Amino acid sequence: MDLFRFPRPKTFAEASQLVQERQKPLEELVTRAYRDQAGEDWKSFQLGMFHFHTQYPGPWQEDWASHGLRTLAYDFEDKVLPGRDLPPEAGTIDGFIDYACKLLPSITTLQTPLLRFLIDKEPSRDQWRTYAASMYGRGRVHHGNLARLSLNLPREEYACFAYRMLGDEGGQGNYKKAHSTLILPFLEHLGGSIADTDRLGEIFEGKVLFNWMNRCFMHPNPVWGVATIFYLENQAAMEFTAMLPRLRKAKFPEEVLEFFTIHGDDPETELHNNMCRDMLRSHIKGPQDIKIANVAIRRAGDLFESLFARVAQLMEIKAA
Ligand SMILES: [Fe+2]
Repeated sequence: MDLFRFPRPKTFAEASQLVQERQKPLEELVTRAYRDQAGEDWKSFQLGMFHFHTQYPGPWQEDWASHGLRTLAYDFEDKVLPGRDLPPEAGTIDGFIDYACKLLPSITTLQTPLLRFLIDKEPSRDQWRTYAASMYGRGRVHHGNLARLSLNLPREEYACFAYRMLGDEGGQGNYKKAHSTLILPFLEHLGGSIADTDRLGEIFEGKVLFNWMNRCFMHPNPVWGVATIFYLENQAAMEFTAMLPRLRKAKFPEEVLEFFTIHGDDPETELHNNMCRDMLRSHIKGPQDIKIANVAIRRAGDLFESLFARVAQLMEIKAA
């Protein structure tokens, strides 16, 4: 029985039966998958969830059975996700926010061998091209992240801020100014195209990260998504702030660097980071939410690290 692929059910009774038959095997698969996070079970769980997450752009279009199984999978993951250590001073809400802000610089992509190589060494044109293609891949899923986040926030004040971030990301309605579009001149300047990004889209670690972001942004507890956006916004600001002077030093023409200037040299970035921090503080209600936010932030860091390690392999960059 394929847990993730089935004909679209025509009636609720049919959907309910599909879910009932799959619920237990899915729970067992999730439990086995998280036990080693590398074997065949991990692979089939991740590829199955990727199928759910990509089959429909949002839960409002899902069939009942896919919706039921996807949300059950999130519950099963909640039970088996490994916890992460927290220092005692991070046990209060303010203590946790201070801890998370201090932790961030140590778990962003800037610490990866890939970024260290790009910043400190002399990458070839092909290596820059692969980096540009991977950035476009990350950029073009980010609108979806923000759209899902905005639908999942209970408080209007923060939902409005998520719309603002979504508007910024989408070029305020101008596709030419959408953040992902602004990566294209950089990619094309290097002789690359969207096809390079599509090839990178096949990387398994990228699918795992995509699943994770979808899960966090659609989870019934918004703390998952709020902690994830806190990580993503800060992470992007740190990476692109460091990359802008590097690319200028490599003499890339200024007109292909607009993506980097709007992220690495713009007061809006600081506003995003501060707002994300405040949003995190106000969504955490107690010790359970602190645990969740810690897992969400740390796991996002780990999954980026795995993806960047894989991209570094493709670029034939060896760890220092
Ligand atoms: Fe952006």
